[in-house]
Amino acid sequence: MAKATIHNAREIEELRVACRLAADTLLMVGEHLRPGMTTQDVNTLVHEFTIAHGARPAPLGYRGFPRSVCTSVNDVICHGIPDPTVLRDGDILNVDVTPVMPAVGGWHGDTNATFYIGEPSAQARQVVEVARECLELGIAAVKPGAALGDIGWAIQRHAEANGCSVVREYTGHGIGRRFHSEPAVRHYGQPGVGLRLRRGMTFTIEPMINLGAHACRHLDDGWTVLTRDGSLSAQFEHTVVVTRQGVDVLTARSAPLKGSEDVPWARLGPLASYVEPAAG
Ligand code: MF3
Ligand code: CO
Ligand code: CO
Repeated sequence: MAKATIHNAREIEELRVACRLAADTLLMVGEHLRPGMTTQDVNTLVHEFTIAHGARPAPLGYRGFPRSVCTSVNDVICHGIPDPTVLRDGDILNVDVTPVMPAVGGWHGDTNATFYIGEPSAQARQVVEVARECLELGIAAVKPGAALGDIGWAIQRHAEANGCSVVREYTGHGIGRRFHSEPAVRHYGQPGVGLRLRRGMTFTIEPMINLGAHACRHLDDGWTVLTRDGSLSAQFEHTVVVTRQGVDVLTARSAPLKGSEDVPWARLGPLASYVEPAAG
């Protein structure tokens, strides 16, 4: 049976520091993205911002990952490695950041978002906006006594009702002093099934949503995960804690995300990620 660590109020406030830096890192990236940049340029921005704020990028060296951030373009589902790939008008780009703060207990803040580079196609808008809504709906299912399957079901139902599919091979995860821990948070499932949520549990929700089928393929770089059918894939991620009232989004942003949330077609739900969270 899956286990989950329960964190106390002091630990949550320490974790919140790392999560706030993660949120600020995505805001910074959004200010800089434009066609002509490379994903390696994004890596440099994230690396230097993280170090300048007294943190370390957890991806660098994690199980041999060679860069400080994951950059996943178009049909890349996740774990894209920054390289000289040039971002072009019409691309979609997911940026996944995880600062760890050695000076503040070694807590990890994990968040990602998908950005529009220039003018997106109707298909690109569809998969990105559905992925954004899936995360919102998954978060809305979090409260003490809910089951992990309630989160997965909320996400799967919305993705499939909108002609998209949910990636099965990768999940959200417990987070804290460790980058990845139990429980695995599936983005598909059935209501009432799985681990019961309790106050103080901390985990990520990070649905990977494909426009086509959910099957993956892997590059021989050992990391890059793509859609098998070549369809577009989008993802959003937040780190959350279960509270007495429901949920606190620890990586909530203090402003709308440029290039993602500020576009006229962004479908921002009632839990829009730039709304400051209620006190835990
Ligand atoms: N940040 C990713 C996640 O959401 C994990 C990336 S592992 C890395 O879980 F090694 F690629 F950085
Ligand atoms: Co994660
Ligand atoms: Co992440």
